[in-house]
Amino acid sequence: MRDVAIVAAGMTPFGELWHASLRDLCVEAAMEALKNAKTDQVDALFVGNMSGGQFVGQEHLGPLFADQLGMSGVAAMRVESACASGGTALRAAFAEIASGLSETALVVGVEKMTDATDVTEILATAADQENEVYHGITFPGLYALIARAHMQAYGTTEEDLSWVSVKNHKQGALNPKAQFRREVTVEEVMSSSMVSDPLRLLHCSPVSDGAAAVLLCPLKEAKKYTDRPVKILASGLATDSMALADRRELASLDAVERSARKAYKMAGMGPQNMQVAEVHDCFAIAEICCVEALGLVEKGKAGSAARTGYTALGGCIPVNTSGGLKSKGHPVGATGVAQAIEIFEQLREEAGERQVEGARIGLTQNMGGSGASSVVHIFQKV
Ligand code: COA
Repeated sequence: MRDVAIVAAGMTPFGELWHASLRDLCVEAAMEALKNAKTDQVDALFVGNMSGGQFVGQEHLGPLFADQLGMSGVAAMRVESACASGGTALRAAFAEIASGLSETALVVGVEKMTDATDVTEILATAADQENEVYHGITFPGLYALIARAHMQAYGTTEEDLSWVSVKNHKQGALNPKAQFRREVTVEEVMSSSMVSDPLRLLHCSPVSDGAAAVLLCPLKEAKKYTDRPVKILASGLATDSMALADRRELASLDAVERSARKAYKMAGMGPQNMQVAEVHDCFAIAEICCVEALGLVEKGKAGSAARTGYTALGGCIPVNTSGGLKSKGHPVGATGVAQAIEIFEQLREEAGERQVEGARIGLTQNMGGSGASSVVHIFQKV
């Protein structure tokens, strides 16, 4: 396998983007990445998208976007793994370059959610239809069950959940691309409307539009495009049962643990080597479970990690410096690519007020559904 690098990135702001269609978002992010690399052609295009068909009635995104980008003829495909579609598309592009199939690959993660009226139902198609959704549960409900299980097993409190939101809003306030650039207090979070007990409005990621793009090539060719490439050290993808009822236990996310184990093995490193991480905080409890499964915080101890500052900017392992899904926004297919861009910028020392001083190694973890799939990437400053 060849070493692979990210050489350029582009991203739209995340939010309710009424002026832009699905294809507009893709083109804006992709053109920015291509412009930054001073190129206009690639060998392959990978699109991370969860549900263009249901959100805006548009499938067959590979050729559509290749055409819109003036690249008709290029190899192009869509990759879908629910909310992990972006991270999984990045992995597909990584394999494409590592294997020697292509010399350049553009990854675009994109979702246009706010045009749809039945967003919660569309998202729920990524849960187990026969065993969960048929009985009326949706994602806030599934994550509420996980939250209750974590509370029961480890004494995690509603206040602990709220500190995750406070931390991520504080960090997101420093991100010009974030959907919500405002800080919130624990009191505000704990008095926001109940969505699915114990999860309140301010424990949830929002419904968002947006796109993010990165350009990959072999590391030894990277200097053609940039003087500061970032190496992709490892990629780990893993799965778990779709239905929560079939899980070993509710308070652990085994797919995250498995994907991390594979990535750490491939990188020849462990969680102790990570200096900054973007993890999948679609609900506050998800960040708590994910940092434990990644080994960044001891099992059962992540409840207090945001409150004590352990996972905050300036702490031992800063998590979600971008604001995370909670504050930056969660256009589902774009999220995994946007996570990679945050680490790319951190390792290039381009993160401005969010910069983690001296960061050389960073990690992203992107999750599908209630944890049925998870993909982890590890990146290194070159
Ligand atoms: N965090 C902070 N503010 C939020 C928010 C969120 N998650 N969601 C909405 N808001 C704000 C809106 O900006 C709006 O503010 P305004 O009145 O100042 O304009 C207000 O709250 C009401 O917004 P609205 O769109 O009516 O909220 P809603 O009740 O329809 O939706 C949720 C709120 C939490 C149900 C929705 O954001 C949601 O479903 N989130 C989860 C998405 C999800 O499941 N993703 C996949 C994860 S696996």
